[in-house]
Amino acid sequence: MEFLLVTKGPKLPGKNVRSRDTLGLRVAYYPFMGKAIIETKGLSKRYVMGDQVVNALKDVNLTIEQGEFVAIMGPSGSGKSTFMNLIGCLDRPTAGEYLLNAEAVAYMEDNQLAEIRNKYIGFVFQNFNLLPRTTALKNVELPLMYAGAKNRSQRAKKALEMVGLAQRMDHTPAMLSGGQQQRVAIARAIVNEPVLILGDEPTGNLDSRTSEEIMAVFQQLNREGKTVVIVTHEEDVALHCKRIIRFKDGAVRVDEKVAVQTDAREVLKMMDTPEGGKVAA
Ligand SMILES: Nc1ncnc2c1ncn2[C@@H]1O[C@H](COP(=O)(O)OP(=O)(O)OP(=O)(O)O)[C@@H](O)[C@H]1O
Ligand SMILES: [Mg+2]
Repeated sequence: MEFLLVTKGPKLPGKNVRSRDTLGLRVAYYPFMGKAIIETKGLSKRYVMGDQVVNALKDVNLTIEQGEFVAIMGPSGSGKSTFMNLIGCLDRPTAGEYLLNAEAVAYMEDNQLAEIRNKYIGFVFQNFNLLPRTTALKNVELPLMYAGAKNRSQRAKKALEMVGLAQRMDHTPAMLSGGQQQRVAIARAIVNEPVLILGDEPTGNLDSRTSEEIMAVFQQLNREGKTVVIVTHEEDVALHCKRIIRFKDGAVRVDEKVAVQTDAREVLKMMDTPEGGKVAA
């Protein structure tokens, strides 16, 4: 199915785009877009603790389509993690609807939600959340074990190759740098071939070069068609995405397209020049 996008903006990037001008508007056909992966209607989350009530999320109406790369931003306490936990099926809303890949999942039972997560979603966390005494390969195999999948070792190796860690499969997390641990976590998130990759501050604990490397991996996955949604506090990280959604007080305040997406590969190249400060090996 083709999706017709009409915009007054500059020519849109993407090699599958054909465009023509009609009445001064630019019309682009995105063959792989148009399918809503995430659709929320009036999504709300209220926490009640004693006599204290927190409206963490208020009436959020959002659609995120296949192939999008979205940054969720906003001040501390604005509801970003609450939103991620809901769209990641880790929690249930108190009101509203959530369609994941056209399936109404908001009020499913725990075991159904676990099944949905395993089938559709890959998570990347700020603290990597790897099993400490387990090799990279075994960490990546875990979701396949839960899913009872075949060819586990082969598939886990392929995922590790995709994130550039083919040489580190037998290392435990303690033997890996923060960036390498995060790449293992990304391999674990993609090994089940989910339609959606979610990261809550995935570069939050990393230095700027390592963050750039992680953003390069996310951008590569996005170019391959994966839908990626990450939370970040950093504007320059968000500019690697295609769209920025800003929350404030549990509501969406700004939803904007990124006009010029930062290409992490280009930034890494710059960092590798002598001026960029990389010490010669
Ligand atoms: N389990 C909970 N019980 C009670 N209140 C909660 C719970 N989780 C979150 N909240 C409250 O909901 C609001 C939104 O929290 P949330 O964690 O979504 O913010 P955030 O935008 O992710 O912030 P940060 O940038 O600090 O991670 C906050 O006021 C928080 O205190
Ligand atoms: Mg948070």
